[in-house]
Amino acid sequence: MKIAILPGDGIGPEIVAQAVRVLDALRSDGLPIEYEYGVLGGGAVDATGSPYPEATQKLAQAADAILLGAVGGPQWDNLPREQRPERGLLGIRKQLGVFANLRPAVLYPELANASTLKPEVVSGLDIMIIRELVGDIYFGEPRGIETRNGERVGYNTMVYSESEIRRIAKVAFETAMRRNRKLCSVDKMNVLEATQLWRDVVTEVGKDYPQVELSHMLVDNAAMQLVRNPKQFDVMVTGNMFGDILSDEASMLTGSIGMLPSASLDANNKGLYEPCHGSAPDIAGKNLANPLATILSVAMMLRYSFAKEDAAQRIEAAVKSVLAQGLRTADIFEAGTEKISTTQMGDAVLAAL
Ligand code: NAI
Ligand code: MG
Repeated sequence: MKIAILPGDGIGPEIVAQAVRVLDALRSDGLPIEYEYGVLGGGAVDATGSPYPEATQKLAQAADAILLGAVGGPQWDNLPREQRPERGLLGIRKQLGVFANLRPAVLYPELANASTLKPEVVSGLDIMIIRELVGDIYFGEPRGIETRNGERVGYNTMVYSESEIRRIAKVAFETAMRRNRKLCSVDKMNVLEATQLWRDVVTEVGKDYPQVELSHMLVDNAAMQLVRNPKQFDVMVTGNMFGDILSDEASMLTGSIGMLPSASLDANNKGLYEPCHGSAPDIAGKNLANPLATILSVAMMLRYSFAKEDAAQRIEAAVKSVLAQGLRTADIFEAGTEKISTTQMGDAVLAAL
């Protein structure tokens, strides 16, 4: 189990340190875990001039799975686009071909009041959003800003090929088969041809999965339905841009982005695992960040890349137990619970494990 660890910027190193303690604990219990550190993002730019340097590329390509913290921060905001930390993130996703981004939005009963939505709307919520991660308008060519007829024009290209849609649709149907056999595909086929093809191909793939109840929804309606009645959804699948937006929206149904893990998988279940949130420069270095999203990302790693379901469930049970004990980092703190730091949260998870 060869793991590359890329802590990144901001709170990245703080939250990843707690997740590594979990890996160490599992290793002492006998899992053959080996890991090595690399740089990615702003820190990598400072050290090497590149947000995804050659040495990190080698490390990531040789690993079975990658654990990533987060990248970016205001000190790198004025760099040219190719050197920006986010380019490192897009670069590693693209190079590894991790096209299937799985983002569960689960409301823990202990955090029922953390959401800004009414408890009856979100209680028991358990959605899996599957976002295509290496295509769409984020990567389409041509792209740029240029002068036409004396004014500046910015443009990007939304593009999906049949094979790109087919492979993500398969992941979505397989995921639906393992859950409640209900899949909603989100597009904007009334306006965008690329997503007309999306709907056509998803429908075709669906013929191989007659047991799955497939529905289609336009993205603007999906955005609305997610806050109106989110429990109507089980598995959702959509393209890169819509998935980016809808998965952030869904994350807030659960109260805190500090709780939400993600997995990004290639066709062989090699995966990149990271919390859904960013580098949180506002709280970096203060021992305040919630490490649970990163720790839960380790659980996803064990489940999807290493098929260690028992170990994954052990981690998830430890997290639930810590929440049940009333221990909370600042982002999920409420009256009647005990506010603790990043490292104390790590201590509590380790103890529960
Ligand atoms: P962010 O997710 O870093 O922070 C948004 C808010 O959530 C902040 O108030 C932050 O303090 C809070 N927050 C985030 N994670 C938390 C945690 N684990 N515990 C407690 N509170 C947490 O998003 P923002 O502020 O838009 O971006 C900050 C930087 O992160 C930017 O440079 C951005 O480009 C980068 N970013 C990186 C991502 C990645 O590496 N995957 C994803 C999103 C943003
Ligand atoms: Mg995003």
